[in-house]
Amino acid sequence: MKLIVAVDKNWGIGKRNGLLFELPEDMKYFRAKTLEKVVCMGYNTLLSFPGGKPLKNRVNIVLAPADKEPDGCIVVHTLDELFKTLENYDDNDVFVIGGAMFYRTMYPYCDEAYITKVDADGGAEVFFDDLDKLSNWSYTVVDELTSVNGYKLTFTVYKNSAPKKFGTDQTV
Ligand SMILES: NC(=O)c1ccc[n+]([C@@H]2O[C@H](COP(=O)([O-])OP(=O)(O)OC[C@H]3O[C@@H](n4cnc5c(N)ncnc54)[C@H](OP(=O)(O)O)[C@@H]3O)[C@@H](O)[C@H]2O)c1
Repeated sequence: MKLIVAVDKNWGIGKRNGLLFELPEDMKYFRAKTLEKVVCMGYNTLLSFPGGKPLKNRVNIVLAPADKEPDGCIVVHTLDELFKTLENYDDNDVFVIGGAMFYRTMYPYCDEAYITKVDADGGAEVFFDDLDKLSNWSYTVVDELTSVNGYKLTFTVYKNSAPKKFGTDQTV
C-alpha cells in the first residue's frame, strides 16, 4: 500500500478542510499516480472534494462516521472493516490519500509514500508526521520544478523498510 500527499515546509497539509496551495503540477502528478487505482480516505477528505463527490475513474473507499453513507463510494465505518475491504485489492494498487487523521493511522502500513514538498509555509492547521524523524523511512528525490504559482516543488518517494501488516497492531 502507498500514500500520496503534498506537504509544506512544516509538514503541514491542510487548513479549513482544504489544501494549502493551488498546485496544478501536483494535481497532475496525483492524477497520474492514482488513475484506475484504489484510493482510500477519511470522511473529511471526501467532503473537501468539489461537491463532496468521489474521484472519477478510481475505486473510492471512505472511512466514514456510522451515520454517513456517501454515494459513489465503498463506505466502511471501522478500521477492521477497512482492512478487510482492502484485502480484495492488489496492495500495489491501493493509495492512502488523506486527510490528517487517516494518514496518521495508515502510514505505518504503507511501504511507499509519494510526498510532494512545497518550499513555503502554508499556515496549516493539520499536519503529517515528519517522516525524517523516523529511522525506518528514507527518501529519494525524483523531480524538482517551480510551479506556475511560483512555489518550488520537490517530488520525493519515501520508502518504509518496516511496514506494519494489517491485524498486527492491537490498536487496530
Ligand atoms: N495535502 C494533501 O495532500 C492532503 C490530502 C488529503 C487531505 N488533505 C487535507 O486534510 C484535511 C482533512 O483531514 P482530517 O484529519 O480533518 O480528516 P480525514 O482524515 O480526511 O477524515 C476524518 C474523518 O474520517 C474518519 N476517520 C479518519 N481516520 C480515522 C481513523 N483512523 N479511525 C476512525 N475514523 C477515522 C473520522 O470519522 P469519525 O468522525 O467517526 O471519527 C473523521 O470523521 C483537509 O484540510 C484536507 O484538505 C490534504
